[in-house]
Amino acid sequence: MMITTAPFVSRTESAQYRLYEFAKTALIKIFATPYAAVCDFYCGGGVDTDKWNDAQIGHYIGIDASTTGITEARELWESQTKPYTAEFCELDPCTENLEAYLRDKGVPVDIVCCMQHLQLCFETEERARSLLQNVASLLKPGGYFFGITPDSSTIWAKYQKVVEASHNKGASAKPNPVANCIRSEHYIITFEVEEEKFPFFGKKYQLKFTNDIASETYNLVHFPSLIRLAREAGLEYVEIQNLTEFYDDNRAQFAGLFHTFCPTLIDPRGKLPRAADILGLYSTFIFQKPDPDFVPPITTPIVDGSHVEDREWHSSGRRPQTSVDDEKNGHLDIPLPPVDSGKGILGPGPADQRFPDFY
Ligand SMILES: C[S@@+](CC[C@H](N)C(=O)[O-])C[C@H]1O[C@@H](n2cnc3c(N)ncnc32)[C@H](O)[C@@H]1O
Repeated sequence: MMITTAPFVSRTESAQYRLYEFAKTALIKIFATPYAAVCDFYCGGGVDTDKWNDAQIGHYIGIDASTTGITEARELWESQTKPYTAEFCELDPCTENLEAYLRDKGVPVDIVCCMQHLQLCFETEERARSLLQNVASLLKPGGYFFGITPDSSTIWAKYQKVVEASHNKGASAKPNPVANCIRSEHYIITFEVEEEKFPFFGKKYQLKFTNDIASETYNLVHFPSLIRLAREAGLEYVEIQNLTEFYDDNRAQFAGLFHTFCPTLIDPRGKLPRAADILGLYSTFIFQKPDPDFVPPITTPIVDGSHVEDREWHSSGRRPQTSVDDEKNGHLDIPLPPVDSGKGILGPGPADQRFPDFY
């Protein structure tokens, strides 16, 4: 593959930034209902203030571990017309018991989101457990936890291909260099240590976009461990979906939005010839705190030996439209994942790393 070096562009002009902004906006539009109470983990800078404003939420709690991040987020909210009430707290969701600090600040909430930094908790199992317990204790029954994170399953599958190719080369006479890089037209991912197994926590890599000067260090998020720890904390798995699939599933609904954020990345047929490589690097994740008062919908009778669901599974995780009263009562109609969808919730990752029995 020929790699050309892209010219450096400002962060907010870069394709990766605009695609991320599109995906965050779409998720907020899907989940945030008028008057919703929201808790935003790692809200630093308040970059999503306008999006929450547009969604007409009622209350916002911004959490960030950095003083600067919290101060900037508060200042941005204060500079606006304040269509929703807000609290800003300097706390780390990976290490602190948030409920104890937020008791008089408008919890429980309808939504907890972590738009960019879920990976921070995958440094250790203890941190991941702490973050997920915080989510569960802050959410109302029926409430959602969602966000975007690099798609570790896709990254790991790509990495395994690189390792395999270098081992194949190694069979020849020449000694092969250590395989630790995934290179594409748009980014380079570098692992610190070559490993054959996907470590559940603390597996670090550097991601550098070719149009960016700096690289960032991330932890792989082992999705089966995320699902397991979420379940132990009392959160039900709804969906983890690669952003290319998320885009395809929501293309009709969000075509206008995509055009606003990424006008140069879309072709006349609505395809993303230049963006799929970057979009495919990320996934959405969605969990829900079960509502014990939830009344399941009636299913149709058995046809040909199998139940026919009243509703189709929307693999986008999109909720069917519900009234504001339904939302307030917590009666949210959430679609269930198909046990045998054939898609594999972890995308194209190695089959032995998948988690077959989580349903
Ligand atoms: C860019 S903001 C994220 C804003 C917004 N939620 C979004 O998705 O665009 C990043 C925030 O995450 C926090 N953060 C980033 N890396 C961190 C780290 N290694 N440890 C703790 N906090 C970190 C910082 O405090 C910063 O304010």
